[in-house]
Amino acid sequence: MANYTATNNTQNSTIRSFRAVVFAALIALLFNLTSCNPKADAISPETETIVASSLRAVASSDSSNTLKGVASFPIGAAINPQLLASNALYKSALVKNYNSISTENCAKMNRLQPKAGQFNWTDTDALVNFARQNNMKVHGHTLIWHVAVPTWVTNFQGDSLAWEKLMKTHIQTVVGHYKGSIKSWDVVNEAFEADGSLRKSIWYQHLGADYIARCFQYAHEADPQALLFYNDNNSVYQTKKSDAVYAMLKNLKQRNIPINGVGLQMHITVNTSESILTNVIRQYASTGLLIHISELDIRMNYSLSTTFVLTDAVKNAHASKYKAIAKIYKGVVAKAQQFGITNWNLGDSDSWLLTESKSEDHPLLFDENYNRKLSFYGFMQGLTE
Ligand code: XIL
Repeated sequence: MANYTATNNTQNSTIRSFRAVVFAALIALLFNLTSCNPKADAISPETETIVASSLRAVASSDSSNTLKGVASFPIGAAINPQLLASNALYKSALVKNYNSISTENCAKMNRLQPKAGQFNWTDTDALVNFARQNNMKVHGHTLIWHVAVPTWVTNFQGDSLAWEKLMKTHIQTVVGHYKGSIKSWDVVNEAFEADGSLRKSIWYQHLGADYIARCFQYAHEADPQALLFYNDNNSVYQTKKSDAVYAMLKNLKQRNIPINGVGLQMHITVNTSESILTNVIRQYASTGLLIHISELDIRMNYSLSTTFVLTDAVKNAHASKYKAIAKIYKGVVAKAQQFGITNWNLGDSDSWLLTESKSEDHPLLFDENYNRKLSFYGFMQGLTE
């Protein structure tokens, strides 16, 4: 009896410690699925396989095997027309997964009007024609920005009336040319500084603070059907800036300025706080405007380290962050305000971040050969759930 009890106790404690191990393993797995902490790096190859297959399970059947197939709102990609014309893999990743194209660079002012009064439509026309043939929409980016200003504008001499005419002519020529084919535009891009003050851009200097409102009016006159957006980078640590943008949006609406939506660029990192992000999206959504996550990419190497190592833990954190963005967007933004989510290009080697910082990174959903990454499946799972 005593022996039996002793054996029984040993068995019980073995079962208890086995349960504890299983429980700890489950918690660890759950943490790695939901965590945004890139330091969760002790993950074993076995766990990586479980995480990966759990994410990939969502793509089991052909009909639910593409981003646009599983999403309940438009999924866009910023596209480079040269790559589209020359790379079949780029083209097929785009056509298969996306139903919207943003013009990454070709519709910026320096490209569309490189010389005063001389417009070069070739690249943007190519994207518009491609989109039409493939049943996609085009989002125009961007009419007025402090970057990508052509030299002739930087050197322009004239009074405020002459500057007004220059700005109005650009907006109305471009929006007019694409009337009916580019159905939405980023009208003004990045007008605010991090501290919430208006950027003292060339436009501000010559036209005053209310140039923003007039840009919307000019665009609306040229195409009353087009949906007009204010677009900015929403660094979540810059609440002064998002508060200032929010105040401007409300002011424009109160004055009946024709603005339809706001773009949150969403150039973030695996480390970006999801709760602060949720608050910013919720704040902007409370304006009732359409909400566009307009330039999504996620840095893995957020400290721009020269000794960055691509571990399974970092891959998991990246996939989890893409998943979280899709879930936050769906959870926070009312259906009628969901304009869509746009990835800022397709393959890792196409990303502007590599040329910006020259440090190693893998910020997008496809690798350099346009194979789907774990993050593709993370994003897809977020879109599906
Ligand atoms: C970037 C492009 O991706 C690069 O190819 C280009 O060299 C510079 O501009 N915010 C914006 C985008 O609104 O227009 C920028 O695009 C990225 C930051």
